Amino acid sequence: MKRTIEIGLGERSYPIHVGRGILGDPSSLAPHVAGRQVFVISDENVADLYLHSLERALEGSRGVDSHIIRSGERSKTLEELTSILQALAACRLGRDGVVVALGGGVVGDIAGFAAATYQRGVDFVQIPTTLLAQVDSSVGGKTGVNLPVGKNLVGAFHQPRCVVIDTKTLATLAPREMRAGFAEVVKYGLIGDADFFVWLEGNVDALLALDDQAIAHAVIRSCEEKAKAVMADEREIGQRALLNLGHTFGHAIEAGAGYGRWLHGEAVAVGIILAARLSEREGGLEAMDCRRIEALFEKANLPLHLPTNLSPERMLELMSLDKKNREGKMRLILLRRIGEAVVSADFDPSSLRKTLVAAAAAARDPDF
Ligand code: NAD
Ligand code: GLY
Repeated sequence: MKRTIEIGLGERSYPIHVGRGILGDPSSLAPHVAGRQVFVISDENVADLYLHSLERALEGSRGVDSHIIRSGERSKTLEELTSILQALAACRLGRDGVVVALGGGVVGDIAGFAAATYQRGVDFVQIPTTLLAQVDSSVGGKTGVNLPVGKNLVGAFHQPRCVVIDTKTLATLAPREMRAGFAEVVKYGLIGDADFFVWLEGNVDALLALDDQAIAHAVIRSCEEKAKAVMADEREIGQRALLNLGHTFGHAIEAGAGYGRWLHGEAVAVGIILAARLSEREGGLEAMDCRRIEALFEKANLPLHLPTNLSPERMLELMSLDKKNREGKMRLILLRRIGEAVVSADFDPSSLRKTLVAAAAAARDPDF
């Protein structure tokens, strides 16, 4: 069965199709690829597993070319973007062509950015194959690459024409990647849906064990929350920033540890814990709720601590590059309670410092 969630953005509106086994079903893709030249971007792992089925589902297109990047965060660079753009030009993809991103968030972000910039913008379709990409990165039109000094510092808003989520692809995903995606699922409960957070507390094991119903519920509920945030604030002028709960801390951990060592979702889990502790220190979040968040990440076997190489000073330095900062002031997402978050520039800087000092004192290197 296929469920469709609509993202209403005027002429940039698009459907998110969610179903088991829909990757090989041409019906979701046909309206976007029929009679058009298609260029698939994927990574080595995903291409081995799913490129063949996808090519069969693209049967109505005018022709299919593909470009395969190395797997992982280290590919999300300007250099890799250049090679993708050169490949698009070498295939003579025209402005009426369509780019298809088949893979996780790395593929989706870089392929989307290539589609945003090639010939000043061509259509693209997202086919996310990690939990993280299915619940977050494939929806909403944020595309881009990293610079050595910071995550996602170069990019563009470019909405896909369609998102096709085949939850069956999660069967081949490494457990560590499932856990990392889980951190972004928890985020939706924390920022906007306390009942969903309670559901996750009760269903974390089923979800990580790939129970079909649990996965379908988590993916659909997350996409609905993401859709709401994107429709309300496509370009992140205001409330969309709530989706970045824990990300300022998390991006600093990813950059500080060296891209690719920590998975994005793992860094976000520690980032959410630090945001929760700061929220508690600032008098927003109840101590008991802060513990519940930590307990849920612990149950999911996610890292809970800062790594030992990141001092409070280094964290602050890395966090000062965040895109949410305005007029030299850091803006963070804080929790008022489970299910309600705010964008704040008013927190006491000494609370942030104390939170980081305490976290650094308890630092522990993860065993991955
Ligand atoms: P990823 O794309 O690196 O994929 C993780 C790993 O899983 C890779 O090795 C990949 O080859 C492999 N893989 C993917 N699908 C598979 C499958 N079905 N079976 C087996 N292996 C599979 O990482 P990710 O966690 O999907 O995405 C992380 C990226 O997403 C980060 O760069 C992050 O910044 C970005 N992101 C973007 C947004 C956004 O709004 N654009 C939101 C959140 C995260
Ligand atoms: N992942 C954050 C956003 O899409 O805004």
